[in-house]
Amino acid sequence: AKSDVLVIGSNMVDLITYIDRMPVEGETVAAPNFEMGCGGKGANQAVAAAKLGSKVSFVTMLGNDDFGKMQMQNYKSVGIDTSAIGVGNSNSGVAPIFVDPSSDNRIIIVKGANNELTPSVLDKYENTLKEAKIIVLQQEIPLETNYRAIELANKHDVPVLLNPAPANENLDIDYARRVDYFAPNETELSSLTKLPVENMDQIKLAAQKMVDLGVKNMIVTLGSKGVLWVNESHSELIGAMHVRATDTTGAGDSFIGSFAHYIAAGDAIDEAIRHANEYAGVTVTQKGTQKSYPSAEEFKSLKKKLFSIE
Ligand code: RIB
Ligand code: NA
Repeated sequence: AKSDVLVIGSNMVDLITYIDRMPVEGETVAAPNFEMGCGGKGANQAVAAAKLGSKVSFVTMLGNDDFGKMQMQNYKSVGIDTSAIGVGNSNSGVAPIFVDPSSDNRIIIVKGANNELTPSVLDKYENTLKEAKIIVLQQEIPLETNYRAIELANKHDVPVLLNPAPANENLDIDYARRVDYFAPNETELSSLTKLPVENMDQIKLAAQKMVDLGVKNMIVTLGSKGVLWVNESHSELIGAMHVRATDTTGAGDSFIGSFAHYIAAGDAIDEAIRHANEYAGVTVTQKGTQKSYPSAEEFKSLKKKLFSIE
């Protein structure tokens, strides 16, 4: 099965509580709203690319429970190729999420079956891997599995995007060098470089440090401040869209998934970043994770509605 975008990674069920404030120890507080939805960084990225019209294959490990079945149904409904999706022996990965009135989120992940996506599982899909236009990775599955994915991708000359989220200080820098696009947010960048990222000058220095270490393209996502793209010969801050955010959960993933879609479709890096910034900008105006990702058609009309008043 040839694919435009092949995502290897996690799936989770998001349990999102919209809170007025966090309880303190020993306290019970009532919250105004709760929503359950499909999430997980890998799945979110796969769904974003699929909704925009990419042919997407997804390598992931579902839990052996009702949540796993719900996820499978969801991938089928957005047209993702599910032939490389397995069912593990553990419970599904879940993510209790708390979104506060300023639209910021706190996320806990319980990886469950995602831990069962091992390098040997991946080896079964080498043929799927080698036919992709781009491979997309995050860090909610074992690091060794990502390493194996990078080795296989390098062997077959398939470009790789690594989104090192959530941050993992054990990431071997040698593998960061072997991907084409390395896309952390500022927190992850700081954890990897051990450098402060309090202002744009510091962020630029930290990104430059990664390039000096041999990373090819640093794509640093900075939320409302936009995206910083740095490589050996270029450094550019590409601004985000100005929108009123209601829920930023999964906004980073919508950027990564749509960026991969646009790269697979032939965009240059800066163009792909501009388009993906618009896509992510639309998603933060809607509640939920994948629920807030528009189809290509919806994206067109939402863009007009949201951005033309600027
Ligand atoms: O990046 C957002 C995602 O992080 C959520 O969907 C949650 O499942 C966690 O994986
Ligand atoms: Na959202």
